[in-house]
Amino acid sequence: MKTYKFLLLLLSFSIATHAQKVKNQAKIKPRNEFISELMGKMTIDEKIAQLVQFTADGTVTGPKGGDNFIEEIKKGNVGSILNATGVKYTRELQKLNLENSRLKIPLLYGYDVIHGYRTIFPITLGESASWDPAMAELSSKVAAAEAAASGVHWTFAPMVDIARDPRWGRVSEGSGEDTYLGSRLAMARVKGFQGSDLGAINTILACTKHFAAYGAAEAGRDYNTVDMSERVLRETYLPPFKATVDAGVRTFMTSFNEISGVPATGNRFLLRDILKGEWKFNGFVVTDYTAINELIPHGFAQDAAHAGELSLNAGIDMDMVGGIYLKHLKTLLNQGKVKETDINDACKRILEAKYDLGLFEDPYRYNDEKREAATIYKKEHLDAALQVANKSMVLLKNNNILPLRREQKVAFVGPLISDEANIIGSWAATGDRTGYAVSVEEGVRKLITDKGKLTFDKGVEIVDTSKSQMQKALDNARQADVIVAVMGEFENMTGEAASRTDINLPGIQKEFLAELKKLGKPLVLVLMNGRPLTLSWENENMDAILEAWFPGTMGGDAIAQTLYGINNPGGKLPMTFPRTLGQVPVYYNHKNTGRPYLGAADPEQKYKSRYIDSDNSPLYPFGYGLSYTTFAYSNPKLSANTLTASGSIKVSVDVANTGNYDGEEVVQLYIQDKVGSVTRPVRELKGFNKVPLKKGEKKTVEFTITANDLKFYDINMQFVAEPGDFNVFVGGSSAAELTDKFVLVK
Ligand code: GLC
Repeated sequence: MKTYKFLLLLLSFSIATHAQKVKNQAKIKPRNEFISELMGKMTIDEKIAQLVQFTADGTVTGPKGGDNFIEEIKKGNVGSILNATGVKYTRELQKLNLENSRLKIPLLYGYDVIHGYRTIFPITLGESASWDPAMAELSSKVAAAEAAASGVHWTFAPMVDIARDPRWGRVSEGSGEDTYLGSRLAMARVKGFQGSDLGAINTILACTKHFAAYGAAEAGRDYNTVDMSERVLRETYLPPFKATVDAGVRTFMTSFNEISGVPATGNRFLLRDILKGEWKFNGFVVTDYTAINELIPHGFAQDAAHAGELSLNAGIDMDMVGGIYLKHLKTLLNQGKVKETDINDACKRILEAKYDLGLFEDPYRYNDEKREAATIYKKEHLDAALQVANKSMVLLKNNNILPLRREQKVAFVGPLISDEANIIGSWAATGDRTGYAVSVEEGVRKLITDKGKLTFDKGVEIVDTSKSQMQKALDNARQADVIVAVMGEFENMTGEAASRTDINLPGIQKEFLAELKKLGKPLVLVLMNGRPLTLSWENENMDAILEAWFPGTMGGDAIAQTLYGINNPGGKLPMTFPRTLGQVPVYYNHKNTGRPYLGAADPEQKYKSRYIDSDNSPLYPFGYGLSYTTFAYSNPKLSANTLTASGSIKVSVDVANTGNYDGEEVVQLYIQDKVGSVTRPVRELKGFNKVPLKKGEKKTVEFTITANDLKFYDINMQFVAEPGDFNVFVGGSSAAELTDKFVLVK
């Protein structure tokens, strides 16, 4: 009898499931047809609601905008919620929304999944030091899988702001100073988040931010004024954004800053002329947090209604938290100050995203508790985080002290030796700061089980100036063969609203290093930081310096594996490290000026573009990074020394691993346009290739140059390549020597 009942139950369940599928399939028509029918039924209030995003409780990155979001959902006034995470909570809110949505339009959940959702990867600046688009895609893919499994549909990433000023705390979130590197990595991140099918259950909408030129804030002070020529905007700051449009990104976020007097959020030229016009972007644009409201303090809008009018007319589709579209759009429409066609267009773009995510078929498809539990912290995710962290390590100096040998007695000192909170960096989504992350101490003790070989004493804190712990640390260090100092910043000293006027190691960390130096032992500095720091004294006095950034959940394992040679660091700097803050902004692709300073070799040094108290060169240049092995470049060749407008030139160079460790070298191609109708940078990155080389191995690395690689905005703002002479530099950093020359002919 039991079997019969079970079979009957099974049969009825499968019939019900099949019926549901048929019902869904029957209900869901092709997108354009479905959305046009739906919009045909929507009232203007229901359309405006789709343009409204409020924040659930949790991370608040600005003044709390909007009213009580629960009440607004009940009134059917909300199209999207940010900062709601977890299958259970997002299901509850979705249920509340659908019960109060006449046409059952699902909520869209957005969240800042910048470098991981729960499994946290290195901060984006650190990941960018891998110079490996495959690593950027991998981390974004894992982040999307965990976020989607937890009910999140949309991440506010990739952040693609080019930045040349390390005082700005948000350099930690981007890919540094270079347009070409930033564009390649941005495309990889969009691919990782969105995959090839947004309807898949492990992909989410990506959001390219902050549009635009947010990283050029004057004096590196967050939210500050940006003023630049259209040529610099288009040549340096916009290409990474355009690259993500080419990669199919479905949303954009505007930035807080103004650009030459016009705030990005009310900037018609940026949004309608360039993004939706020239670039034919068919996704939707959300503002940054209350950025519409901020048009008032910008001095660009009279009041909230005027701010809403300017924003919609400029091309903003969704109001993040500001509550202004909800309160004023209908009145503005009735006053003829905004067009219904613009409201319809914004609504359509947002509904299309919800449709492509499969939310109309099943608003709860991202709400599966079993899948959430099975996906978060999957071993393959943790392994991926370790892999990316290892690839992000940059060796800045090494007097053959690294890698450490297991038989050595090592004194680990510094405020971050056992840290499990800061190690995952800022913007770490739902990452765990209470002990899940692997600290350096944990990572080292996994490798070196003989406790007699290791001591761990902080000695000092990150900022606190107390010296109460220092003596004990010095006493233990005195007994060691090698001292390893793990130092840096708090995670919240970078990220949003975290600009610094002093980018030295904070607190008395440097003073402690000076005391350690007096012990006369080999001294290694491991850095955990979210920006380039000024390290001139450290560079003079340390025997080795390893830049580890904030390496994420598996950071302690990555640092330990790198210190002990299991991982040979192959990262390269995505951003210049200045000698002093006084040099900033200092970046590799600068102009030559009419009085270039050629360094000490220059006989008439005085009247040149230089400082009387510092060299012009940075401490560590863009693209720089050492290895435990050495690489030799030889046999550079160009397939021709004349390039035609439709032709191409092959650049090849042999690279040999001439040391004792297997390693990876990022071979970089730079080109200089000697003369133009406007002045051109002394060199620009035009290609890179990360090459694995076993010890003793040699490979030929090849690049192809075409006229397209040489285009820029000429004196008439035409994007063209101009005939003339070009220099080619190939090497392991932006300081690569001149390799060869070619001429571009008409
Ligand atoms: C913040 C940030 C932005 C983030 C948004 C939502 O102010 O500027 O990067 O995505 O608000 O948290």
